[in-house]
Amino acid sequence: MDNQAMPREQLGVCAEGNLHSVYLMFNANEGVESQLRPCIANVAQYIYELTDQYADSAFNGFVAIGANYWDSLYPSGRPVALKPFPAMNADTRDAPALEYDLFVHIRCDRFDILHLVANEVCQMFEGLVELIDEERGFRFMDNRDLTGFVDGTENPKGRSRQEVALVGVEDEMFKGGSYVHVQKFAHNLSKWNRLPQKKQEDIVGRTKLDNIEYASEDKPLTSHIKRVNLKDADGKSMEILRQSMPYGSVKEQGLMFISTCRNSVNFEQMLKSMVHGDGHGNHDHLLHFTQALTGSSFFAPSLDFLESQAG
Ligand code: HEM
Repeated sequence: MDNQAMPREQLGVCAEGNLHSVYLMFNANEGVESQLRPCIANVAQYIYELTDQYADSAFNGFVAIGANYWDSLYPSGRPVALKPFPAMNADTRDAPALEYDLFVHIRCDRFDILHLVANEVCQMFEGLVELIDEERGFRFMDNRDLTGFVDGTENPKGRSRQEVALVGVEDEMFKGGSYVHVQKFAHNLSKWNRLPQKKQEDIVGRTKLDNIEYASEDKPLTSHIKRVNLKDADGKSMEILRQSMPYGSVKEQGLMFISTCRNSVNFEQMLKSMVHGDGHGNHDHLLHFTQALTGSSFFAPSLDFLESQAG
């Protein structure tokens, strides 16, 4: 494919799910931008090449730049819809913002490879950034969230993953890039597990074991899938591509929620519908059982953009 027409996307943005993940959140040291630009391009290229080398283990990943750091790093232009994380709160439902300068997301079916690559990436960044947070995600059962429900079923499939997640002609300079939102949700599993299964199913809007969507008329207005299934002014479905995975250990565990999208409004509207509800008192009851600890907004540019800024 012609690079002019379609810049090379970072392959982790649209990749299919796999077994393990590592999330690295960094902040940049003062005044390192001119060294960091080529370094980020190298890290993204390294990840891109490993996708071929470890194809058998479905390795993939991406590097994304924080909304609040973007202008310092790339003063020549900004993705049109890049905004800080839309922090919000209503009663006990909290979606706080916690921003980072850089996010490296790597995934693979072999954990040893991920460990190796995570160390290598940190080495490549040495002296330029500080590692602030690190989590490891894993596939739980047959693609279930730790609540026991299958997660990802209604994600876009095939080529529509690119259609949903990658910026197109609407922002020529940032074509092939993606808006990335991350929220680390810590679940209150003892509270959740005390709920009868039918109550859990009403909260999600799907059955638990066989993962069947409720009929439209049976879906409570407070169910998760009712709250996030939104249409725009033209009646078109507002979609995101979710790359979430369970994370954590016995002490703290939950879902590392990750949305990639060609715009930032779809995620924001969904989150608003979960937290603030529909204006008639119907918010997302899943939020009674999980708490967002972070909320970060990034942009994952195409490899071609990163290279063009490296010199
Ligand atoms: C669907 C879990 C947070 C957006 C689902 C489903 C589950 C789930 C089990 C149903 C299966 C599927 O289609 O994937 C969770 C959990 C969350 C969480 C445990 C946090 C703890 C979010 C957030 C958003 C979101 C923050 C967006 C702001 C969606 C969307 C769907 C979905 C768009 C597909 C709905 C449909 O078309 O039926 N989620 N989710 N989720 N979730 Fe979440």
